[in-house]
Amino acid sequence: MNWQELRAKLDSTDMLGRVLAFPEQMEAAWKIGAGFAPAAEPLREKKFERVVIAGMGGSAIGGDLAKSFLSDRATPITSCRDYALPKNVARGALFVASSYSGNTGVTLAAYDAARGVVAAMVAVTSGGELAARCARDGVPCCIIPGGMPPRAAIGFSLLPMLHVLRAAGAATFDDSEYDEALGVARERCAEYAPTRDDNAAIKLAKALHGKTAFVYAAPSLLEGVARRWSCQFNENSKTLAHFAFFPELNHNEIVGWEVGDIMKRAVILSLQDRDDHPMTRRHADVGLSLMKPFAGAIERYETPASGRLSRMLATMLLGDFASVYLAYLNGVDPTPVKKIDALKKEMSR
Ligand code: PA5
Repeated sequence: MNWQELRAKLDSTDMLGRVLAFPEQMEAAWKIGAGFAPAAEPLREKKFERVVIAGMGGSAIGGDLAKSFLSDRATPITSCRDYALPKNVARGALFVASSYSGNTGVTLAAYDAARGVVAAMVAVTSGGELAARCARDGVPCCIIPGGMPPRAAIGFSLLPMLHVLRAAGAATFDDSEYDEALGVARERCAEYAPTRDDNAAIKLAKALHGKTAFVYAAPSLLEGVARRWSCQFNENSKTLAHFAFFPELNHNEIVGWEVGDIMKRAVILSLQDRDDHPMTRRHADVGLSLMKPFAGAIERYETPASGRLSRMLATMLLGDFASVYLAYLNGVDPTPVKKIDALKKEMSR
């Protein structure tokens, strides 16, 4: 397969180049976050009961990854992907609005709903109406560079948010975890580059060509990553994908694997991490063995043995690269998301 030829022919904004440049984006995002942290430090005094991260799509995933990474050492984090913000969730909360464009109606509505109800507010955005409202309201706003598809700016959605949460006293982590993750991201980007046709990302894309992906994981470290894989297959590869979690899926979804031929076009991608509960791992083993006769294929991935941030981002990158290669195999441009654009236009009337 001549990947460079497909890249030149199909990839209008060089999505592959953006994924390859993720380590550089991490470095820039980390610097921005560190520079912004002092603005969030006065929030420490509030002693938050929880953190609510409001955002949609590519911008929400940064919050999901932060939640997964910090699950064992942060004030409880809740995602808000809706216009409304229940009052029992909002009270005593640090509210973080995350919108890459700054113009997403749902996130702006959640921002408005949070005003006067939550304990404190902060935002991460490249500008737009969200930055304007923050300036109007005196809300600290971390400005990240614009001009990318939001999902390609995942480093900018995630890393400044980690700085914000730590500076506000809502999370603890060590800078060394970032240093390690940066090294691992560099290794992974070299490994998944199109120079070798037998790399794991290309193999994954080939396994998914003409199929639907069912991404299964445990709801521990890889919850955000499973969603990211599914969304990247949707938006970059223009293909349907689905995600669900063990052990819950063994109590409902597993029964759906009985419809014969249709499911032969489905590939189960099972993501596992060493922090998964041992019984959840057993659920995965037993559940997958029961689904095997019905599925087109089952591919299993174990995170590499390194720190939590490294494991999470390394696994995310495998999905990011595979989604771009799958776009090429599907003969589509990874960048445009015409239906999302049309929907936003219609909803803004
Ligand atoms: O990837 C995309 O383009 C979408 O999922 C967007 O992230 C989503 O529509 C929200 O937009 P924004 O990230 O600008 O708030």
